[in-house]
Amino acid sequence: MVFDLTDEQRMIQETARNFAQKEVLPKAADLDETGRFPEDLVRQMAELGFLGVAVPEEHGGAGMDNVCYAIAMEEISRACASTGVIMSVNNSLVCDPILRFGSDDIRREYLAPLASGRKLGCFGLTEPGAGSDAGAQKTTAVRDGDSYIVNGTKNFITNAPQADTCVLFTMTDKARAHKGITAFVVDMKWKGVSLGKLEKKMGIKASATSSIIFEDVRVPAKNRLGNEGDGFKVAMSTLDGGRIGIAAQAVGIARAAMEDALAYSRDRKQFGQPICEFQAIQWMLADMATEIDAARLLTYRAAWMKDRKMRHSKESSMAKLYASEVAMRAATKGIQIHGGYGYIKEYPAERHFRDAKITEIYEGTSEIQRMVISSALIKG
Ligand code: CAA
Repeated sequence: MVFDLTDEQRMIQETARNFAQKEVLPKAADLDETGRFPEDLVRQMAELGFLGVAVPEEHGGAGMDNVCYAIAMEEISRACASTGVIMSVNNSLVCDPILRFGSDDIRREYLAPLASGRKLGCFGLTEPGAGSDAGAQKTTAVRDGDSYIVNGTKNFITNAPQADTCVLFTMTDKARAHKGITAFVVDMKWKGVSLGKLEKKMGIKASATSSIIFEDVRVPAKNRLGNEGDGFKVAMSTLDGGRIGIAAQAVGIARAAMEDALAYSRDRKQFGQPICEFQAIQWMLADMATEIDAARLLTYRAAWMKDRKMRHSKESSMAKLYASEVAMRAATKGIQIHGGYGYIKEYPAERHFRDAKITEIYEGTSEIQRMVISSALIKG
């Protein structure tokens, strides 16, 4: 077993860390305060190849592996979780399914612009009545000659307001339940596509989330991802990869909480000494650091398995479940170590807490991850 990063993995870690510290971190508090979409950072990430890390170069990506992707995600999210999720959605939930399920024509037309970051994507799975129960899709796609007519509403869609392209899930045959779901690549500028309400969120405020309404949208049949009825498997296998990205995001947030608390505990003096001299603080820091390492190792394992095209549903869910809960625990302890200063906006501790919470919810709640893990155990 080798725990060393490869030269390429070390290189992306250094590049991502430098960029995150110099460019992203100084803007993070303002992005959180204003909820402004970080267009400038997204453009810079595109130049660095961060919007299609594991997409082969021939398709416009950086041609690296999924461990590199997890490493870069952690560094960006360590500085700003909002910027992290914008990156994660484009990489895992948009480029990845187009790469794996798109025809040559679809890849040529859509993948290179997305992987190079000239365009941005979103993932249209969730609906008002289909959250955890992703199979309960109500958006319909009805065949009409060489196209489909799509009607329905998607909600809580990350990146929707800025997205050029949507990987969209629809019901083409209701009688077949989840086997009647079909996925498409849809241009957000097509007639009949409009944005709904922009959500006001607790955290990751600079990542825009809104609903998308589809009214008689004509989608060419050639834009289908896979065959009719393959959509649920497209969605689930895409989320297997997406959960690695969110696990890495959670590790980044947890690290931010821990590193900020460590720095504060060295500076802050009470009872005549820095508070890091007190065992109560030391034990919290030790637990945070240990859990963060464990979460990162689970995340790297899932990414390593994806690189080897091994089934990694259970391992991705374990990484996402554990890392997101570690992020919440680290963010809670981070505030505790800051005391009253942790509860006010002068320090980033309270932002880490608000940002951490979503990692236990999106791309499958912790309860759904436990379902995936236990179902894999039971099936053997
Ligand atoms: N890969 C391939 N196929 C898979 C699969 C996977 N990972 N998981 C399941 N399948 C297949 C099964 O083999 C089965 O196939 P057959 O019908 O041929 O036997 C089929 O899919 C149905 O499987 P299940 O019976 O396990 O399905 P289920 O209805 O019980 O649901 C679930 C499973 C795990 C609960 C699933 O619905 C789920 O993951 N829900 C959560 C949805 C989610 O994560 N949403 C996130 C939205 S995106 C987002 O959040 C983005 C963002 O904002 C950043």
